[in-house]
Amino acid sequence: MLKGKKILLGITGSIAAYKSAVLVRHLIKQGAEVKVIMTTAAKDFVTPLSLSTLSKNDVLADITDNDTWANHVMLGRWADIMLIAPLSCNTLAKMANGLCDNLLMAVYLSATCPVVVAPAMDEDMWHHNSTIENLKKIASFNNQIIPVEKGELASGLVGEGRMAEPENIVNWLENFFSNKLELKGKKVLITAGPTYEAIDPVRFIGNHSSGKMGVAIAEEMKNRGADVTLVLGPSNITVTENIEVIRVKSANEMYDACINHFEKTDIAVMSAAVADYTPVSTASQKIKKNDSIFSVELTKTKDILKSLGEKKNNKQLLVGFALETNNEKEYALKKMKTKNADMIVLNSLNDAGAGFGHDTNKITIFDKHNKEYKFDKKSKKDVAIDIVNTIIKLLHA
Ligand code: CTP
Repeated sequence: MLKGKKILLGITGSIAAYKSAVLVRHLIKQGAEVKVIMTTAAKDFVTPLSLSTLSKNDVLADITDNDTWANHVMLGRWADIMLIAPLSCNTLAKMANGLCDNLLMAVYLSATCPVVVAPAMDEDMWHHNSTIENLKKIASFNNQIIPVEKGELASGLVGEGRMAEPENIVNWLENFFSNKLELKGKKVLITAGPTYEAIDPVRFIGNHSSGKMGVAIAEEMKNRGADVTLVLGPSNITVTENIEVIRVKSANEMYDACINHFEKTDIAVMSAAVADYTPVSTASQKIKKNDSIFSVELTKTKDILKSLGEKKNNKQLLVGFALETNNEKEYALKKMKTKNADMIVLNSLNDAGAGFGHDTNKITIFDKHNKEYKFDKKSKKDVAIDIVNTIIKLLHA
């Protein structure tokens, strides 16, 4: 069941770290590919040599190694899942607060894959209010938690706090991989980023969209087993390898790419900030400055979301975005109706940390069954998980 799965195992400083060696052995036996990251404290409990031998890969521990920078971004992109087992109280607190003082935390904070933790601590620490609050906090960031077990603890006491047995962690992973591919077999089309409307060969009308939100949705759709095509406007953002990316510049090119793909699409998510207007004509030569006033005549672009809404059959699901500054709910609902979307994701510019240029977003989702889902401000990666979960809910409604 774990054959070919790429598992990034983070080991932190806890006596339960000795079980991680057994865990790696089980994972390798099941056909998984394992890379191990250790914190400095973890090395007091289990040696990197044991883990590199068992995992058949070098063990990673430092952000720089022999003057080489460990690429923490690519590690989180390589993995199908990041598992932190054992999770110590200290690393839990760092995760809850976004601290980044070692390689494990840098990988965790930049991981685009799902993250699961198997905590291990003494019973009194396990029941401490700060542990309870920190666990709630990391769960609200969409990290998953493998429950601790009851039994003899390192202190000699008997109680709750033992890390789940390696066999139980393997079972948890097997369940995770068989259940989570809710979108297996589904074809998903996503637009992201800005569009550039050329005035002449050197100038264009554009906007501040980074494409981060749409790319995060594409990656989350991929995590759930979907076959993803991303139509991406001009953006420097890197995208996971196994997503088909169609790079476009203008609203018209984005329209053509979407129309070409829509027929075979099950779910379309239009998150791009498409220009509403484009120059009537593009000068073939650079325009020289002459008069003190210069006007560009603009014409409306084709509305991609609306066009797909007109073509949509009752098996296809169409999701639009709305960025509003006032009468947010009213305008968002109107947009869903006039463009015949099944769901609309509202960003309000009145919310601090939402919309363009931020790494966070705060959204409300409305669906065609009059359901309204309000979410807290979160990282775009976590917002993407909420959006995909809500889409899956609507698929099953
Ligand atoms: N959209 C699109 N094609 C366009 C313009 C917008 O597909 N030419 C999509 C966006 O990707 C988004 C939704 O429509 O999903 C809302 O875009 P927005 O620009 O906010 O809405 P408009 O319909 O342009 O309305 P208004 O400018 O009045 O807010």
